[in-house]
Amino acid sequence: MLQKNQDACLPLQSPAAAIPLAHSVPAYLDTYYWWAYVHPQAVRVFERQWLANAILWGNYARLRDSALAEFDATLKGRTLQVACAYGDLTNRLCTRLPERGGTLDVVDVLPIQLDNLRRKLPASDRVRLHTMDSSALGFADASFDRVLLFFLLHEQPREVRIATLAEAWRVVKPGGRIVIVDYALPDRANPLRYLFRPVLAALEPFALDLWKSEIAQWLPPPARAAVRKETCFGGLYQKIVLTR
Ligand SMILES: C[S@@+](CC[C@H](N)C(=O)[O-])C[C@H]1O[C@@H](n2cnc3c(N)ncnc32)[C@H](O)[C@@H]1O
Repeated sequence: MLQKNQDACLPLQSPAAAIPLAHSVPAYLDTYYWWAYVHPQAVRVFERQWLANAILWGNYARLRDSALAEFDATLKGRTLQVACAYGDLTNRLCTRLPERGGTLDVVDVLPIQLDNLRRKLPASDRVRLHTMDSSALGFADASFDRVLLFFLLHEQPREVRIATLAEAWRVVKPGGRIVIVDYALPDRANPLRYLFRPVLAALEPFALDLWKSEIAQWLPPPARAAVRKETCFGGLYQKIVLTR
């Protein structure tokens, strides 16, 4: 299931270049998320801010801003976004890059998603896109000041999720920060605890793992002591912040 890593990196200032290298699609994406990310029509359907917001029950901006609030207002040094997202999350990260001394790297395993992201972003030599699997990042140890995982883990089978978290921990510097935003088990009083379960079970088969277990249990042991967790929207969403 894990992909051999191929870093097809493109700076955003070369818009004419296509993201090269055929890259194999992880089996779980092909099987369960072809309609959302893999199929050529997927981007055309889903790349709408209002739709991303509707899928998150109207919480897109709240969750995006809550994640960004964990980082400095100006993103000096190196920032890593692990996996593209529909909507304007990456644009918001870009606006926080300083003119000098700050770069953003975005990885995704699907070239179609990186192509879409490139179309959304302003041309900049401070932003680089990489065709890369989150479970086998082609970056050096301790090479990033901060890492963001926005609604990625719930899409991944357990072994990929564990590898993704280990990679995020590996590439962040001591003192650096990892921010994770994803689903969690809603409170008993939240009707979505009952109504949303069958939807997730049908469409996103690994998502309910995040209802059953704490993300901390999939972290490498040294990372577990560094966890801060917050929830919102009746517990349906969680933010995990780790400082290495
Ligand atoms: C991060 S999630 C974002 C979902 C969320 N609904 C949104 O768009 O805001 C979706 C992305 O994760 C990517 N992805 C899934 N598994 C991956 C992996 N193992 N490595 C890198 N990217 C992955 C998919 O290709 C897709 O572009």
